Amino acid sequence: MSQIPEVLPASNDPCWCGSGRKYKRCCKGSEGRIQPGVVSPMRSVPDNIVKPPYALTGTPPRNSESRVKSPEVIERMRVAGAAAAEILRNAGEFVRPGITTEEIDIFVHELTIKMGGYPSPLNYHGYPKSVCTSVNEVICHGIPDSRVLEDGDIVNLDVTIYLNGVHGDTNATFAVGNISDEDKQLIKVTEECMWHGIEAVKPGVPINEVGRAIEIHAKKYKYGVVRAFIGHGIGENFHTDIQVLHYFDPRNTMIIREGMTFTIEPMITSSGEWRHKMWDDDWTAVTSDGSRTAQFEHTLVVTADGVEILTGGDGAVSPKAPWRR
Ligand code: MF3
Ligand code: CO
Ligand code: CO
Repeated sequence: MSQIPEVLPASNDPCWCGSGRKYKRCCKGSEGRIQPGVVSPMRSVPDNIVKPPYALTGTPPRNSESRVKSPEVIERMRVAGAAAAEILRNAGEFVRPGITTEEIDIFVHELTIKMGGYPSPLNYHGYPKSVCTSVNEVICHGIPDSRVLEDGDIVNLDVTIYLNGVHGDTNATFAVGNISDEDKQLIKVTEECMWHGIEAVKPGVPINEVGRAIEIHAKKYKYGVVRAFIGHGIGENFHTDIQVLHYFDPRNTMIIREGMTFTIEPMITSSGEWRHKMWDDDWTAVTSDGSRTAQFEHTLVVTADGVEILTGGDGAVSPKAPWRR
């Protein structure tokens, strides 16, 4: 694509990109937006790595696992969760201007295998890469490609590992070089939203208290809570039937029980917009108004009086929200 000019054409004039089409039928509205890059062929995973059932077929089996996990499964999830946290931390340190999102994918792919695990996104419902890299207005499920990260971008890395027969799922949004104060605030508040949601988790409480807590915090900043993508039960399957809405819905009334394992992963927009648009790849979800968006995610298990964060990094039990330390 050619460089975006300082003065944009009128709607019916020829597009600045040289396509010969009318500006309004071509690049209008796409300036400053993320453009799809080239997606390289799927990477392979060595034979000695134990793979989830969908690795070969692309189709996960119908979920039949119970919502409440045995202590044995929870122990395995602690190990997978700690590995996911370690990969995410390292991948975040790898982020810098000038690298492509595909280079992040290679980094995550190799590190996951080195830790003895399978990168859960790979071939999950046909997803072609080992991590999701969601830049700027991309809400989630951005596919690593040839696009180069630029100074001032924000990028969410969503890491999931399949290890010891269970999944650990965690994500965070990182700054690429120097970012604006607005983006810093969006990232900070989004992480706070996740912690507010986590702090609402207790046995006996309806799951919509999570969404209520998240929505209240986001609204203080006139931020939007994305509705189409939700937290989920997790364990031997990547996604099980527990649904964790990140906004308040009176119908989301499942009662939280000790031993349940699920994720909380709010996606927050800077403009207040909550609707999304889907790219033609059927994965990449972007804000419908092009506004920037951030996300944070942890996998957790419900304890007798609260939660244990399984993807907390040090296996920490019920860590306090970081901004309150
Ligand atoms: N990790 C994402 C989540 O938090 C799911 C990614 S599915 C994929 O639920 F296929 F895009 F990898
Ligand atoms: Co998740
Ligand atoms: Co995730």
